[in-house]
Amino acid sequence: MAAKKLSETYSKNLINELKKWGKMKRTGVSLRYMTEFGSRPTEKNLLISAQFLHKELAIRIARKALELEKLPYGLSEKPAVLKVRDWYVDSFSDVRSFKEISDTNDELAFTQTIKSIRLKHTSVAPTLALGVQQLKQDLGPKINIQDLSEIHQFLDRFYMSRIGIRMLIGQHVALHDPDPLPDCIGCIHTRMSPLEVARNASEDARSICLREYGSSPDVKIYGDHNFTFPYVPSHLHLMVFELVKNSLRAVQERFMDSDEVAPPIRIVVADGLQDVTIKISDEGGGIPRCDLPKLFSYLYSTAKSPLDENMTMSSSDAATMAGYGCGIPISRLYARYFGGDLQVISMEGYGTDAYLHLSRLGDSEEPLS
Ligand SMILES: Nc1ncnc2c1ncn2[C@@H]1O[C@H](COP(=O)(O)OP(=O)(O)OP(=O)(O)O)[C@@H](O)[C@H]1O
Ligand SMILES: [Mg+2]
Repeated sequence: MAAKKLSETYSKNLINELKKWGKMKRTGVSLRYMTEFGSRPTEKNLLISAQFLHKELAIRIARKALELEKLPYGLSEKPAVLKVRDWYVDSFSDVRSFKEISDTNDELAFTQTIKSIRLKHTSVAPTLALGVQQLKQDLGPKINIQDLSEIHQFLDRFYMSRIGIRMLIGQHVALHDPDPLPDCIGCIHTRMSPLEVARNASEDARSICLREYGSSPDVKIYGDHNFTFPYVPSHLHLMVFELVKNSLRAVQERFMDSDEVAPPIRIVVADGLQDVTIKISDEGGGIPRCDLPKLFSYLYSTAKSPLDENMTMSSSDAATMAGYGCGIPISRLYARYFGGDLQVISMEGYGTDAYLHLSRLGDSEEPLS
């Protein structure tokens, strides 16, 4: 597929609109605001929420579509990146096809539209990863990953924005649920048990390990079973899943051919006043110190890439043990999205500790860099 400029695919009007909206100021929201607002999902509030999204999504989506046009090292011309750009431009056009949201009928139609936008964008991450992987191949093995800081900064901004867009849409759509689960406000669980989420995420990671290797180390979880705090369970699930997957892989690879029993992965949940911290420790041999700076790069993986140019989207959706090189940087973005962070500390020759800090206060606004 030849690289197609925006003007070859879209009308001048649409491109001008895109440029106009892409310059507008975004508005960040906090977990606390979403929780308080969502606790009264009246028709009037859903209308206010849709009116906010009508503007906010157009701004955020336009910004990213334009950014995808201007990437260094020819990344913008990669077919996979063009595909993602077109998804963004089409979605911008879908949002802007609503002149205004003035009553409940408009609101319901708009909700359907953004719901399908969210669905259409499901494969953005693996598709973009394919583009980045193609770039990595073009640049050859001699390239130093840390030199590609522009690409890393772009991907950090891009994925962070994607998390925000998906959270805003997901929350609005979920507020329409006529029969929400107890203590749930949209995607937010006001009494989420981090132990329970960690257990589910660990089991999911273990089943992939079992499928891939035929066996899996155990995961032991320590902490107060009654402790809960408000958070988005799907976000925590994703982070713990990625970190446990990494630990399982390291332990499995290290003990696969050994007579020793593989030591368990240990998860400790601590509830502090400011942060809930989740430590994931393994005895998988750690990471060499020289590789630590690459850990948060989207191009660093010691696994074989599961992506290839002929992949079909359905096959790319299947979860794999490792290989994209995105698990750690994306988990850190999810943590930072609500004011938390992720640190990884390694003892080469022994194992790795990942510290996931989640802010308990819920008042930090989405980062809009
Ligand atoms: N607990 C760990 N022990 C040893 N090495 C690790 C650990 N966690 C991460 N690594 C190293 O860091 C690399 C990057 O991890 P990351 O999760 O970002 O990507 P990945 O696991 O390779 O692929 P995926 O995107 O599928 O997660 C891994 O390939 C591995 O070499
Ligand atoms: Mg990983």
